[in-house]
Amino acid sequence: MTAQPAASKMTLPELAAMRARGDRIVMVTAYDAPSGRLADDAGVDIVLVGDSAGTTVLGGTSTVPVTLDEMLVFTRGVVRGVSHALVIADMPFGSYQVSDAAALEHAIRLVKEGGADGVKLEGAGATLTRIAAIVDAGIPVMGHIGLTPQSATLLGGYRAQGRTADAARRLIDDARALERAGAFAIVLEAIPAIVAERVTAEIGVPTIGIGAGASCCGQVLVWHDLLGLTRGSTPRFVKRYADLDGVIAGALDAFVQDVRGGTFPGPDHTYGMPDTEREKLDDAKVER
Ligand code: KIV
Repeated sequence: MTAQPAASKMTLPELAAMRARGDRIVMVTAYDAPSGRLADDAGVDIVLVGDSAGTTVLGGTSTVPVTLDEMLVFTRGVVRGVSHALVIADMPFGSYQVSDAAALEHAIRLVKEGGADGVKLEGAGATLTRIAAIVDAGIPVMGHIGLTPQSATLLGGYRAQGRTADAARRLIDDARALERAGAFAIVLEAIPAIVAERVTAEIGVPTIGIGAGASCCGQVLVWHDLLGLTRGSTPRFVKRYADLDGVIAGALDAFVQDVRGGTFPGPDHTYGMPDTEREKLDDAKVER
């Protein structure tokens, strides 16, 4: 069998070319090396180390408490599992709000210590100069508008955005401003499909939708939602492709039964000892 050449690393020009060709871009979140490897093996183009880790992995109710140090741990794990996809790390709340200088310093840590290929920041407005400063330093930046979970309280909760003509126009203006600031792609979260279509038509960089309809240049889902690891209700834009919660619960239940019933470990899971050594062990017992 001949060795397969390693798939080449995804690049920003290739993402731009995908948009130009009309090839849909696939992005998924991941938070550790195994999930990064599985996403990469499936051929996704971008792996997002989302600050959604604050809810999916750390069990919180919001992404706001996630720290830069936590994001660095998740990012290092994902990077070790990925060889083809672009790895983008979310900048957590508080890591880019204070100043352009602080934003740049923290973006550099995610790239230098975490190994990310680029970073993602939420919002426009004050975020625009942060993005420009980070891009100026040579770090790719992905934008994120619509429902921006770090400012969910200000937005009135986890609800769809851009549902009035004025709000839709503001989103289009924000997307244009993000492109001017240097964002290489923009996540559109929880906005009407028609608004996402307009935004996509008005800018030149790829749009990646989550709850933003089919006209975006790509789609992203959160790992735990996609695989059925999320309990309780999920947003309407989530499609579950598996029920891993059920699969894992079944496996753990079988393990508990095996241990309690004495059927695990069996001979196949147990180390033996050469007969000669076993005899010496028995002799030693007699001598004592
Ligand atoms: O943190 C995250 O998972 C995200 C996606 C929802 C785009 O920002």
